[in-house]
Amino acid sequence: MRNENVVWHQHGVDKSIRSDMKGQKPCLLWFTGLSASGKSTVASAVEVRLAERLHHTYLMDGDNVRYGLCSDLGFGKGDRVENIRRVGEVANLMLDAGLIVLTAFISPFKSNRKMIRDMLVGGEFIEVYIDVPLDVCEKRDPKGLYKRVREGELKNFTGIDSPYEIPERPEIRIANHGISVDVAAHQVIDYLDAHGYLKPVV
Ligand code: ADX
Repeated sequence: MRNENVVWHQHGVDKSIRSDMKGQKPCLLWFTGLSASGKSTVASAVEVRLAERLHHTYLMDGDNVRYGLCSDLGFGKGDRVENIRRVGEVANLMLDAGLIVLTAFISPFKSNRKMIRDMLVGGEFIEVYIDVPLDVCEKRDPKGLYKRVREGELKNFTGIDSPYEIPERPEIRIANHGISVDVAAHQVIDYLDAHGYLKPVV
């Protein structure tokens, strides 16, 4: 709960000055999908392509954030909601800094993702649904987690005994199986180009 005596201070250098200097329109590319769907891989490839075009970005990813900022949180519903709330707040500060922010979190709950969308200025929240069937994710199993779930060692696992609520109208949907990382990343870059987020550097 915010203290009523805390007021937002408007500084002399604002978001539009910061983002104009960077030649871009700040936005939050919110990657969501099952574990092993490829959220972090595609987000990372998008960030590389943006860097090649001299854009200013920051990528936050579930596993990394859970090392520090959210190291006190687990995978029960309340903790997942708090995880996403914190990430949304940090991302919002980065948008204020004029950055293009990429986040890769399972973020399984619709209402939780909507909370972040509603917190931002219209057009800033770009939901990127990495759509891969559960059985494909389970076959990939890069961290061996699905195997541990099936052996009864891990509980509350998304897609198995914890829900994943599919985005209804994501701005971008990537069917991320049977395509290269490059093709997947280009789907995002094409969206940003088509919608004017990447202003040419003058
Ligand atoms: S979220 O649900 O709160 O958005 P987040 O993206 O931060 O999840 O973390 C997911 C990562 O944590 C997975 O990629 C996986 O490596 C690991 N993990 C460990 N336990 C679980 C679990 N029970 N459910 C899902 N992911 C888990």
